[in-house]
Amino acid sequence: MEKFLGKKNIAVFISGRGSNLKSLIKYSKKKNSLIKISLVISDTPLAKGIEYAKNSKIKNYCFKSKSKLKFEKKSLELLKKNKVEILCLAGFMRILSEDFIKKFSNPILNIHPSLLPKYKGLNTHTRAIKNRDKYSGATIHRVTKKLDSGEIIYQKKVKIFKSDTVNSLEKKVLKVEHEIYPKAIVKFLSNL
Ligand code: GRF
Repeated sequence: MEKFLGKKNIAVFISGRGSNLKSLIKYSKKKNSLIKISLVISDTPLAKGIEYAKNSKIKNYCFKSKSKLKFEKKSLELLKKNKVEILCLAGFMRILSEDFIKKFSNPILNIHPSLLPKYKGLNTHTRAIKNRDKYSGATIHRVTKKLDSGEIIYQKKVKIFKSDTVNSLEKKVLKVEHEIYPKAIVKFLSNL
């Protein structure tokens, strides 16, 4: 811990664009931030988001393997080697195995673009629009073996207007995601 000047040592898993990673990096660079990001792993080659790690000189790996077993084995080795204390999933599209969650043994957090427990899984915005919901939002939760079902750490609502489309809702929710992931981490760490 001393090595990180009291900051928690975080790894981020991504699969693509990486805008949430970008917001976490931005937060980690603040003088009073509670985290240091030491490792970024993408499960897809050429993930655009990996550039944010490169630009900030954060150790990064882009795995090409389609095998979940291989991905998890390699990632676990890296997490242990880098003494990662919290793993943050940010737009990471793979479901981690129960075995991985057990073996990592430290907390894993995830960001989900809906007001959980509503709309677990994919296509959250399409479902919210189709059901004419008045609100949607984003949730940060603990990762457990049950998909999108772990303890909720932080949520923020956005209003859905009649004029909203899947696209416009996605944009609104994404903006909230960027705002709340750092806040959720602070809240989570304060309650440890
Ligand atoms: C976000 O909406 C996240 O909640 C969802 O996938 C999207 C990823 O965006 N799981 P990005 O890669 O962080 O830009």
